[in-house]
Amino acid sequence: MWGCLVALVGLFFLVRWYRERQVVSQLQDKYVFITGCDSGFGNLLARQLDMRGLRVLAACLTEKGAKQLRRQTSDRAETVILDVTQTESITAAAQWVKECVEDRGLWGLVNNAGILGYLVSNQWLTKQDFVDVLNVNLLGMIEVTLSLLPLVRKARGRVVNISSVMGRVAMFGGGYSISKYGLEAFSDSLRRELLPFDVKVAMIEPGFFQTNLVDKERLACSIEEAWDHASPEVKELYGLEFLEVYQKLPEEFKPPVRQDLSLVTDCMEHALTARHPRTRYSPGWDAKFFYLPLSYMPTCLVDAMVSWLGPKPAKAL
Ligand SMILES: NC(=O)c1ccc[n+]([C@@H]2O[C@H](COP(=O)([O-])OP(=O)(O)OC[C@H]3O[C@@H](n4cnc5c(N)ncnc54)[C@H](OP(=O)(O)O)[C@@H]3O)[C@@H](O)[C@H]2O)c1
Repeated sequence: MWGCLVALVGLFFLVRWYRERQVVSQLQDKYVFITGCDSGFGNLLARQLDMRGLRVLAACLTEKGAKQLRRQTSDRAETVILDVTQTESITAAAQWVKECVEDRGLWGLVNNAGILGYLVSNQWLTKQDFVDVLNVNLLGMIEVTLSLLPLVRKARGRVVNISSVMGRVAMFGGGYSISKYGLEAFSDSLRRELLPFDVKVAMIEPGFFQTNLVDKERLACSIEEAWDHASPEVKELYGLEFLEVYQKLPEEFKPPVRQDLSLVTDCMEHALTARHPRTRYSPGWDAKFFYLPLSYMPTCLVDAMVSWLGPKPAKAL
């Protein structure tokens, strides 16, 4: 009985491993458009795919980022300036992509650009703080996708959306988790909708990785900024001790081992180049062994754990 079960599980992993090793053909003719290539995962992915021989169309937020990336890549890789919050910028970039790919279509669209916003209690924030994050991580991503989808459909290509473990478990307030939950919902509906067109949609749900997004100093500054603009009533409710615990979080909130960014970009590359990509990838040990299991646990247990681990407001009941 147990032997049979072990053999079945072994067979499942063997078949999966074999299927996932198969690579699509003619990679050197395939165009991939990536947003947010100034730094972090987007930057590394652009360089990695360029080395692999794909035709990289890298969108950077700044001219400085684009210039730096052009120096680090081959002549085949091209860059464009794109702010995903600006419709005119998206329209111009989509037109540029159309001219680059001509009648081949766009094989891959990687929605990577993102910001963290304020990772603090919701009650410290204003509506605008949420809007700022949603504009980049969710609405910008949707507008870029809708603008480029006709080209992706033409190539029967791939859409790869960069979500987060925070799109599975909302541990903090602020717009970040909301934007990633939204991204997950959009990706799920898009995947189902695009099945008849032979376009595959994958989501990458990384754990915690050291990039500009989670830079310790930036995080500490953003916590102070949010506290500064919280109302006096809210400040009294939470108290300075709460703020101090929050300020220490960027230092303490890190995985036991420093994780290599290529764990994430390898998943992105697989989603773009494998004949049978996965629907979801969970790069990082914290994602696999903490956040992912947590997301399947009963809500009451997660609530108890988060409130037990987190700081307590001064005026809590
Ligand atoms: N690092 C992590 O632990 C982690 C975990 C899970 C998911 N993620 C996700 O991974 C993605 C990449 O983040 P990262 O960690 O690589 O951080 P990152 O280095 O800060 O990369 C984010 C990129 O997006 C760009 N960007 C910001 N606002 C933009 C806008 N309005 N339009 C276009 N581009 C914009 C940034 O440009 P500038 O550099 O010029 O600001 C940067 O190049 C994000 O979607 C993030 O949510 C990260």
